[in-house]
Amino acid sequence: MGGVMTTEEQSERINLIPIYIMGKQYMVPESLTIMKAMEYAGYTLIRGVGCRGGFCGACGTAYRVLGDPKLYFGLACQTVVQPGMYLAQLPFFPARRAAYHLEDLEATSTQLFSLYPELLRCLGCGACTKACPQELDVRSYMAAGMRGDIAKMADMSFDCIMCGLCAARCPAEEGQYNIAILARRLYGRYMAPRSAHLAERLEEIRAGQFDATMEELKGLDENALKERYKARDIEPK
Ligand code: SF4
Ligand code: SF4
Ligand code: FES
Repeated sequence: MGGVMTTEEQSERINLIPIYIMGKQYMVPESLTIMKAMEYAGYTLIRGVGCRGGFCGACGTAYRVLGDPKLYFGLACQTVVQPGMYLAQLPFFPARRAAYHLEDLEATSTQLFSLYPELLRCLGCGACTKACPQELDVRSYMAAGMRGDIAKMADMSFDCIMCGLCAARCPAEEGQYNIAILARRLYGRYMAPRSAHLAERLEEIRAGQFDATMEELKGLDENALKERYKARDIEPK
């Protein structure tokens, strides 16, 4: 029967490495992500965690590695720990977010600038691009916004997960992701080509083309529904 393992014994068995969470050292397995390492160290994550898959942007983290002066950024659920990592969670950044009703807006540069006048203060320094865990060219999408190119801003920011790390580094105090989501909303509502297929399908629904099928489905039991689901035509010609 062994007693409690010393830190050295544990390290030999599962390669524990030192990391620093909020300034305190913990020994954690080297294969873990930052998020799993924090849980291994005893933290219960309530804020700063969501999808655990790199999509929701809730787990923004700033870190340095011992001996390296550079400040790094990453998603805690995606970034693997390194020895001597000093971590600080940034689950929320208090960037300004304009209030608006999309239906009342116009897809113009004037609209963009009136809701976010700070957009025109961007210095083009690129600190935001360096911070983005999605590797988006944030500086360039901001430049597109400054030119009033809503479509370009929407397109270039499409993979933004709203983590806030770009705003954390901005010397001009921009809330880049809030401006970019406005561009995407304006593009989607007013500029994107309409889908003819969707319009046709809505018309068919309104005309009652699927009423009888819906009634029939509502009368089926669970097993019959599952069979119908499996046998469905996934890509009707
Ligand atoms: S960090 Fe701020 S000022 Fe610098 S390029 Fe990005 S948005 Fe502009
Ligand atoms: S653009 Fe900003 S908010 Fe969006 S993913 Fe990149 S760092 Fe996060
Ligand atoms: S928990 Fe959602 S991106 Fe990390």
